[in-house]
Amino acid sequence: MSTNGGAGAVVRFAVAGLVAMAVLGVAGGIVLNGLAEDEAVDDARRLATLAGRGVVEPAFTDAALAGAPAALAELDLVVQERVLTEDVVRVKIWAPDGTILYSDEPRLIGQRYPLGADEQEALAEGVTEAELSDLSKPENVYEREGGELLEVYLPIRAPGGGQALFELYQRQSSIDASGRRLVEAVAPVAIGSLLLLWLIQLPLAWSSAHRLRDGLRERQGLLEAALESSSVERRRIAADLHDGPVQNLAGLSFSLSAAAERAPEGTDPATVRALEDGADAARDGIRRLRAAVVEINPGRLHDAGLAASIGDLAGVLRARGVTVEIDVPSDLALAPATEELLYRATAEALRNVAAHAEATRVGVRISVDDGRAALRIEDDGRGFDAATRARRREEGHLGLALVEDLVSHLGGTAAVTSEPGHGTTIAIEVPA
Ligand SMILES: Nc1ncnc2c1ncn2[C@@H]1O[C@H](COP(=O)(O)OP(=O)(O)OP(=O)(O)O)[C@@H](O)[C@H]1O
Ligand SMILES: [Mg+2]
Repeated sequence: MSTNGGAGAVVRFAVAGLVAMAVLGVAGGIVLNGLAEDEAVDDARRLATLAGRGVVEPAFTDAALAGAPAALAELDLVVQERVLTEDVVRVKIWAPDGTILYSDEPRLIGQRYPLGADEQEALAEGVTEAELSDLSKPENVYEREGGELLEVYLPIRAPGGGQALFELYQRQSSIDASGRRLVEAVAPVAIGSLLLLWLIQLPLAWSSAHRLRDGLRERQGLLEAALESSSVERRRIAADLHDGPVQNLAGLSFSLSAAAERAPEGTDPATVRALEDGADAARDGIRRLRAAVVEINPGRLHDAGLAASIGDLAGVLRARGVTVEIDVPSDLALAPATEELLYRATAEALRNVAAHAEATRVGVRISVDDGRAALRIEDDGRGFDAATRARRREEGHLGLALVEDLVSHLGGTAAVTSEPGHGTTIAIEVPA
């Protein structure tokens, strides 16, 4: 992962955080708004209860209940002075039969409008009710100007025990405004803490992106070191094989051939044949060992070229009677890293064919087109399924996985396709 990749991850994290915050903020706003509205309506209810019980009820005499003009005038004075405000715009006192006993709007006094179910319930149960006024009702004919109203009503009593319904009208806009004030008080704190949380997380995201990237680098480094040390080891083994057993076998085959040729007249033909067979066996051993040396020693690749080295690799399979068809141009111009990768991939694939495939035919093809090198190795062997490969991998067999890692390290693609009974194909594409 590059530095850019780390920054990209942090930016993605930050944006996701902002989106989450926006969602939270909107949802919180909706909830808060609802709460504020409920709170404001409760306030309106408390105000009406205070006005009804605390101010109007003490001034609501039996005479006022009976409709005596002097008593009503006194009540009106109290209402005008102590109840009505800019936001409290109307007061009505109803008799249980729906007659308006008193209102600060004189034209309403004496009018009769049957009480609704809610009003009757408020009277019967002694509770305080609040609702948005239906301004189209005839009883609200004088309240139609100045926007929506919230009406709150509750029962009150005259000293003699007579019951009436006290009703107070408040501007909805004042209710909304007090809700808004609550939202305005809470919202900055809520949004501020969300923002703070988001800000605190940014450096954390930044440092964990760094740690992740360092971890990946370390892993890459270990992989390269492992490959490097294994190729040093291989070179050593290859050199040992080449200088030791190969030379010994060469000497042996030479001596055996010479002995067979120089056998005096009359020597038992079976002995001569045994000497010749021995020489052949020694030469075959040399061939096999040379192939093995080539296979494990990447050094020869640079001297002999890719086509020749792959030809050497095929020797092992051919010695087992497998037909190997190679189509690799001898004049390929490839970067050393690409050449080595293609060689290693071919070596692994052919080792796998020898070890697992039971194939009769293998095709190896390399082509270069448009700056990309393509390697394709197909066999007609028994194939395998994903589960087998996964299991082998868990058991520590990493041949194909290492090839895939190397390919992706070089910025290429590797595809292994196989099906039990239908052979295996490995297709690799890397920058040439
Ligand atoms: N050409 C093939 N034909 C059939 N089976 C194969 C072939 N190539 C790979 N496989 C299956 O896939 C498995 C994984 O192969 P891989 O090269 O990753 O590991 P390995 O060859 O088992 O061990 P390692 O390569 O580490 O020595 C093999 O064990 C084998 O079952
Ligand atoms: Mg393998």
